[in-house]
Amino acid sequence: MPPLLEVRNLTVEVPAKRGRPPVRIIEDISYDLDYHQTLGIVGESGSGKSMQALAMLGLLPLRKGGRIQGQVLFQGKDLLTLSPKALREIRGGQIGMIFQEPMTSLNPVLTIGRQLAEPLVHHMGMSYGKARRHAVDLLGLVGIPDAAERIRQYPFQFSGGMRQRAMIAMAIACKPKLLIGDEPTTALDVTIQAQIIQLIRDLRDEMRMSIIWITHDMGVVAAMADRVQVLYAGKIMETGPVEQVFGQPYSAYTWALLQSLPKRGQRPREPLFQIAGQPINPALRPPGDPFAPRNPFATPRCHLEMPPLRPVSDAASQHRVAAWYDLPRCLEQQQENNP
Ligand SMILES: Nc1ncnc2c1ncn2[C@@H]1O[C@H](COP(=O)(O)OP(=O)(O)OP(=O)(O)O)[C@@H](O)[C@H]1O
Ligand SMILES: [Mg+2]
Repeated sequence: MPPLLEVRNLTVEVPAKRGRPPVRIIEDISYDLDYHQTLGIVGESGSGKSMQALAMLGLLPLRKGGRIQGQVLFQGKDLLTLSPKALREIRGGQIGMIFQEPMTSLNPVLTIGRQLAEPLVHHMGMSYGKARRHAVDLLGLVGIPDAAERIRQYPFQFSGGMRQRAMIAMAIACKPKLLIGDEPTTALDVTIQAQIIQLIRDLRDEMRMSIIWITHDMGVVAAMADRVQVLYAGKIMETGPVEQVFGQPYSAYTWALLQSLPKRGQRPREPLFQIAGQPINPALRPPGDPFAPRNPFATPRCHLEMPPLRPVSDAASQHRVAAWYDLPRCLEQQQENNP
C-alpha cells in the first residue's frame, strides 16, 4: 500500500524586499508518512515548521512573487493542485488540524456546540440534532466534564486547556486519516500537556490516525512520535526513527538540541548547554550548510556546499542526515581531548 502522505521536493519562496531575489523559507523537503504513523517535526523558532504545514494545506497566503513548488500527495492526490473548494473538503474532513493558539481558530461568537456540530453536518452529512448529540460525545471523549452543558458555552467561557481540548475535538470530529498539530500544547502547563499528549496517543490508536506533530519540545517527540524530522532554516538536517535519531544523532544541530535539554539530576545552578549564535535569517542565508556558522564541528566544506540528505549507514537506512562531518567521530575525539 502506498504511504498516506508523500511530500516531494516541497519548496516555499516568499517575496523579498524590492530588487532582492525571493527568500526560500522551505527548501526541497521530501518524506513519506505511513498509515498510523506519527512524525514529529522539531527545530528552533523560525526554522519553518509552521510554514511547512501551512504550505502543504494551501493555507499560506502568498503575496505576489511568492511560490510553492513540489508535490504533496495525500492518498495519491496532489494537494497543491486541488481547487480551493476541493482542498477545503479534505481539510477538516480527512485532514484535521490543531493550531498553537486556539482563540485564533475558535470562533468567539459561536457556541462550542455549534462549532463542533457544523463540520459534522457538512462533512459527514449528519442532521443538526444528531451532530449536536455527537458533539457532546466528542467533548466527553476529550475529557471535558458536563459536556451537555458545556456545548452551550462560548470559547471565552472555557479555560485555555479546555479550549485546546475543544480544538482537538473539532480536529478529530470527522475521523480524519491525518491529524496535524502545530505546537498545540506549548501554552499549557505540564500536567495538562501530559494529559493531552496521552489523549492524542489514545485517539491515534483508537482511530488509527497518522499524525504530524510540530513542536520545539524534543521530550514531546520522544513521547509520541515514531519518526522525527529535524528542521533548520527550512531544510531537513536529520530524519529517521526517533530512537535512532535521538539515540545516536549524526547532525550537530540535533545533537545541540538534545544537549540543551535539562538533564535528570542536573544541579539547580549548573549552566544549561546553549547553542551558540542565533538561528539564521533565511534572507541572509550563507552558501553551504546553514548550521555551519554555529557548528563547532563544521569543516571548511560545510561553509561552502550544502550537504545532501544521505543514509547514515547502508543505503536502506531510514536514518538520514545532511552533514559533511562525521558527528560520532567528532564527539569521540572531543571526549579523548577533554576526558
Ligand atoms: N508571510 C511571511 N512572509 C515572509 N516570511 C515569513 C512569513 N511568515 C514566516 N516567515 C518566515 O519564515 C520562516 C519560518 O517561519 P515559521 O513560522 O515556519 O517558523 P516556526 O518554525 O514555525 O517557528 P516557531 O517555533 O516560532 O513557531 C521565518 O524565518 C519567518 O520569519
Ligand atoms: Mg510555528
